Amino acid sequence: MRDYKIAPSILSADFARLGEEVTNVIASGADIVHFDVMDNHYVPNLTIGPLVCEALRKHGVKADIDVHLMVKPVDRIIPDFAKAGATYITFHPEGSEHIDRSLQLVRDSGCKCGLVFNPATPLDYLKYVMDKVDMILLMSVNPGFGGQSFIRSSLDKLREVRKLIDASGRPIRLEIDGGVKVDNIREIAEAGADTFVAGSAIFSAGKPGDPNRYNSVVKAMRDELAKAKG
Ligand code: DX5
Ligand code: ZN
Repeated sequence: MRDYKIAPSILSADFARLGEEVTNVIASGADIVHFDVMDNHYVPNLTIGPLVCEALRKHGVKADIDVHLMVKPVDRIIPDFAKAGATYITFHPEGSEHIDRSLQLVRDSGCKCGLVFNPATPLDYLKYVMDKVDMILLMSVNPGFGGQSFIRSSLDKLREVRKLIDASGRPIRLEIDGGVKVDNIREIAEAGADTFVAGSAIFSAGKPGDPNRYNSVVKAMRDELAKAKG
């Protein structure tokens, strides 16, 4: 079985109690904090910046923080997120004028870097930078909002990227973002993903009776992943 990681998107958390929500979801067995940054320019929504990332670290969050930049341009804000405690910083090729330079900037800032592909963005951008990415994130919805439905053509795209990663021999994580739920996570894993962002599916399924509120839904996802072939 692959080393699967579950990455709750805090976009669907209760922002008024964000520290507690993140502590709970990690204590419930999730692995990575997925941190969606939107600028009301590259995507039609506005969310959170480096101050909130830093606040989570100060709150005591030790888990990896996966900063997904849906902003344009990206370079100005990358070092700020590195200082704020990001582990991964990923961005969309459309958000950068010089992709190789932006990837290098993430690395030079001390973080792991990745490229994000929208459902209709071709994978060509990967060709010359496979040796420079730690993560490839495929969007299975158009970026900007939580709670959208999974776009099924992403499954073929996942299979394509899985082959590229395996051929590279490098330990690149293959992350999927958008519409991931308990009832499709197994199929998504079988298509090649190893890192699963889930926002609404996790944060809408909190149970006051669970020790850390989200144990049942995280366990349900892990049980499905344990059945995945491949
Ligand atoms: C969308 C964001 C996602 C989003 C996923 O632009 O990148 O991370 O929060 O939300 P769900 O899991 O609800 O589709
Ligand atoms: Zn995201």
